Amino acid sequence: MSSITVGLVGKRAGAFVSGLQSLPDVRITGICEPAESARAALGERAGVPAAAQFAGYDALLDGARPDMVVLGTPMHLHVPQTVQALERGIHVLSEVTAAVDLDQCRTLVIAVQRAGRRSGARYMMAENYCYRKDVVLVRAMARKGLFGECYFAEGEYVHDVKHLHTLPDGSPTWRATWQVGKRGCTYGTHSLGPALEFFGPEARVLTVSCVGSGVHTDPKHPHDDTCIMLCQLNTGGLIKVRLDMMSSRPHAMAYYALQGTTGSFEGERGFGDQPKLWLGGQETGPHTAREWRSLWDYEEHLPEMWRDPSEEALRAGHGGGDYFIATDFVNAIRSGNAPPIDVYRALDYTVPGLISEQSIAAGGAPLPVPDFRHLSADVEAPVASAALR
Ligand SMILES: NC(=O)c1ccc[n+]([C@@H]2O[C@H](COP(=O)([O-])OP(=O)(O)OC[C@H]3O[C@@H](n4cnc5c(N)ncnc54)[C@H](O)[C@@H]3O)[C@@H](O)[C@H]2O)c1
Repeated sequence: MSSITVGLVGKRAGAFVSGLQSLPDVRITGICEPAESARAALGERAGVPAAAQFAGYDALLDGARPDMVVLGTPMHLHVPQTVQALERGIHVLSEVTAAVDLDQCRTLVIAVQRAGRRSGARYMMAENYCYRKDVVLVRAMARKGLFGECYFAEGEYVHDVKHLHTLPDGSPTWRATWQVGKRGCTYGTHSLGPALEFFGPEARVLTVSCVGSGVHTDPKHPHDDTCIMLCQLNTGGLIKVRLDMMSSRPHAMAYYALQGTTGSFEGERGFGDQPKLWLGGQETGPHTAREWRSLWDYEEHLPEMWRDPSEEALRAGHGGGDYFIATDFVNAIRSGNAPPIDVYRALDYTVPGLISEQSIAAGGAPLPVPDFRHLSADVEAPVASAALR
């Protein structure tokens, strides 16, 4: 088994330390973080000595020469930093979203393709919500056909992060520009990614229609308190995405729901709620006879990864997502298989949100979502399709 050295970039990359350290022959050998105190904390968390703690990205890439980087940096830096790494033959695990505009999407696809030809360096987007236990279980059951034909899903990310839009001195953070500095579903992958996967690895969004609630809570930003994105799928289904990063309320992780012809799932919304499931076939008797059961009554359908998770996995953030995503990427690099959320799947989750910015400006008009697998002559067809288990 070949050893893999890793560089962590930006303090959020520290979330992946336990997953990386659990793998044989994987060593975190460098970090990069411009802010001094965050750099020291990240170095300590990852067990990286001061000599391998860098303030600049070039210094990490050329000084530590890692085999792989984890990008936990502001959203608009993901693509330029990915390109820099891939050009040096370094694998990239990038935080969400994959890109902040359509030009960046094209740049990303071309860079990943070039790296695939020249060095074999790989790219994966770290959409950790796809690895949550409830999401993994419902996805597995949907793919076994237990919901019948799936035709409607919901994904909601409702998280009051107003305090992250400004620094203590009142100056704006990157979120003020890239998340709430414009209208639309600017941070949609946590909601859309898991919901899209319920429909299968080939499902993608064909058109997007986006409307907003208007600005009520924090008039400093043009971003709607709540934004709704309706996604029509190539499979014939519909996904409703809600993004709300403004409304004043308690946090309740993300919420998902799925409806098929023979089953229904509604996730938990917090405050002691239970994720619930009904599987009953297509009988036409009185609906009063139908009863929800706990999702956890169906654990026999859990894929291997969630059957006997390690302590590290259970302790990792986002319901284990931060752990499994790191291990899945390293396993993909070692096996030579396409990573489960490769560049095309990353853009399937990201591009609808970018198109939603145009739709909301056009009063909610449904707009087509480009497929970066077939965008133009300089973008080749993908060699292998990726698939989440
Ligand atoms: N998947 C998830 O659950 C999840 C959760 C939180 C954040 N995120 C994503 O993680 C990323 C970071 O978010 P955050 O909340 O930690 O932001 P943050 O602003 O709190 O931290 C960003 C860090 O990046 C550093 N940075 C800035 N420029 C850099 C550069 N050129 N090179 C290296 N580091 C640089 C900053 O000093 C800062 O410490 C974003 O893309 C966000 O979307 C994902």
